[in-house]
Amino acid sequence: MTDIVLKKGLKDVYFDTTETSYIDGSVGKLLYRGYNIHDLAEKSTFEETMYLLLHGELPTTKQLESIKGQLADSLSLPEPVQEIIGHVKNAHPMDVLRTAVSALSSTDPEVSDNSEAATLRKGVRLTAQSLVAITSHNRIRDGKTPISADPSLSLAGNFLYTLHGERPTKEETELMDKDFILHAEHGSNASAFGARVAASTLADVHASITAGLGILKGPLHGGAAEAVMKMSQDIGDEANAGAYIKEKISAGGRVMGFGHRVYKAEDPRARHLREGCRQLGEKKGQPKWFRILSAVAEEMKPYGSKGIHVNVDFWSGAVYHLLGIPEDLFIPIFALGRVPGWTAQVLEQFADNILLRPLLQYDGPMDLEYIPLEKRG
Ligand code: CMC
Repeated sequence: MTDIVLKKGLKDVYFDTTETSYIDGSVGKLLYRGYNIHDLAEKSTFEETMYLLLHGELPTTKQLESIKGQLADSLSLPEPVQEIIGHVKNAHPMDVLRTAVSALSSTDPEVSDNSEAATLRKGVRLTAQSLVAITSHNRIRDGKTPISADPSLSLAGNFLYTLHGERPTKEETELMDKDFILHAEHGSNASAFGARVAASTLADVHASITAGLGILKGPLHGGAAEAVMKMSQDIGDEANAGAYIKEKISAGGRVMGFGHRVYKAEDPRARHLREGCRQLGEKKGQPKWFRILSAVAEEMKPYGSKGIHVNVDFWSGAVYHLLGIPEDLFIPIFALGRVPGWTAQVLEQFADNILLRPLLQYDGPMDLEYIPLEKRG
């Protein structure tokens, strides 16, 4: 028997190369296709970033218009999928989104075409269709009629418009857009890895993204923003933050929105939402959430020496709350932003495929005698 090197949680294991994103967790650096996340968050748009992730370079004006046109053409759902959403409307919105994306495979004429061109088209379609699935489900469960998207708005603008039925302000749209950019891609995170495992069997992009959606749901991954908002509500006032955190840590609990498998310095995505949370809170007359979160961040500072810093989801929950978005939509928002990243990684997997199939070290009994049922009592 050969010596087994067991890497629990696949920590620090490289399984392939990628050109989609670069992360240096020791200094908090993140690049998409070579471009710094700070530049993209400040200067780009989600549509442009999406093009960059999918095609490997920033678009020309014509290319950008073309991807916007493709997105606009897909901002609706086929009737059978809309009906399914109605049938499962009482489930968690993340389960509804996963169900909708899975069901979209039954209506997509290119579903089993794994060519690069078809996979790109499907990834763009799924981004727009996911937006409609999330916002129309929210309206259906509230007993309201879904709102048709306005092709003249950006995806971020349409997300807020089709959710609330009112046109968002420029500031609200910009903040939502930034949030989608910041969530668009992140190396071999659990859901992208899951999407790649599916792609490595040569399953199609609908199957791969359905797998990614299932994996993203957990509180250790996409569920953290929702948990942070719940924590802020439990804390209730900045003066209570110190006692809350001390109690949580001494009970062996985890403070949501802190820590990361890869970042041992501050997550570079977090700062862009921090400022947005502060400004929006002031504007909406609700500075309380920023103050509570700032007090939590202050209280957690000593843990920085252990590599536990704020992550992307620390401020995002409060931003969504201030945008009037229900808490159970926080994970679907993360998912919507991540569809381009998952698609880009599925394309990479297809381009140089090998079946992803790690090993498990067996740790159970051996060579037991089989006792027939009638003798087992
Ligand atoms: N609060 C308190 N202690 C923590 C935290 C936290 N949020 N995160 C890690 N630690 C401690 C942990 O208890 C452990 O301590 P010890 O060595 O004494 O047992 C040590 O830090 C290492 O933790 P780990 O679980 O081995 O580290 P990991 O790389 O497996 O965990 C993580 C990464 C994200 C699962 C974890 O930091 C966590 O549970 N954070 C809270 C959930 C969260 O905010 N998730 C969103 C991640 S960012 C969005 C995304 O990309 O999905």
